[in-house]
Amino acid sequence: MTRVALVTGGIGGLGSAIATRLAKDYRVVANYLPSLETEAKYWQAQQAKVGMQIDIVAGDVSDAASCEQMASHLLATHGCIDVLINNAGITRDATLRKMPAADWQAVIDTNLSSLFYVTQPLINAMISAGFGRVVNISSVNAQRGQFGQTNYSAAKAGVHGFTKALAQEVAAKGITVNTISPGFINTDMVAAIPDELREQIITDIPVGRVGKPDDIARAVEFLIADDADYITGTELSVNGGIFMH
Ligand code: CAA
Repeated sequence: MTRVALVTGGIGGLGSAIATRLAKDYRVVANYLPSLETEAKYWQAQQAKVGMQIDIVAGDVSDAASCEQMASHLLATHGCIDVLINNAGITRDATLRKMPAADWQAVIDTNLSSLFYVTQPLINAMISAGFGRVVNISSVNAQRGQFGQTNYSAAKAGVHGFTKALAQEVAAKGITVNTISPGFINTDMVAAIPDELREQIITDIPVGRVGKPDDIARAVEFLIADDADYITGTELSVNGGIFMH
């Protein structure tokens, strides 16, 4: 039986790498923001050209009703989502004193409340199946804080709190819940950091390079394996050594 994996933000930098790596062994559904339908269909067609059949599903992870609709569709189509990768996220960087309230809220909604909206309607089917894997993508900037990211650091730190609490609630049901905290990975999000600052960050990475999106996908693959059933509630840093704790 092929397990079904949902990757939120599945057509973006990290999400795309996760979706394509998992597509070899899982039936993958890549979620996308409804306004990105054209991009999502193009992305899906590109994957098909290289022989990867990946389903796509629209859903705004920051919106409860949209997530409920997405979950109903997924459960009707697949019966159960066995593997959930809560990956979708945004940045709206500004120092606290300059941060518009809307940018605070957008980041909290998309990066943290989304875990509630997406996971809650899918968890009962995992419990009934007696199997589930949930991986939540946090950030090194949650672990150590980041100038200009009170919203992002707060939301991403909340992600791991969610992981630890849910991991306890479902541990006896065959479901593991873990966090991956990426460092600086080669995606549009990191490309948007001002050039000078980005160069400085790279010189601080012990491994000597920014990460590849597939470095994160590799970690996801490890945590969701059937025989990774004794690993739960943990936070796996994948950051080239830039932060150790
Ligand atoms: N620590 C201490 N002081 C700093 C600082 C830092 N890291 N960065 C800037 N400052 C100082 C500046 O020198 C300046 O000082 P003065 O007022 O004395 O001149 C003051 O703070 C204001 O700084 P800015 O001019 O930078 O303020 P700004 O409003 O123009 O920009 C900012 C603020 C938008 C936050 C900008 O600094 C920025 O984009 N920083 C990058 C934030 C970042 O690293 N984001 C990570 C994105 S990647 C990601 O999030 C993925 C992931 O998970 C890892």
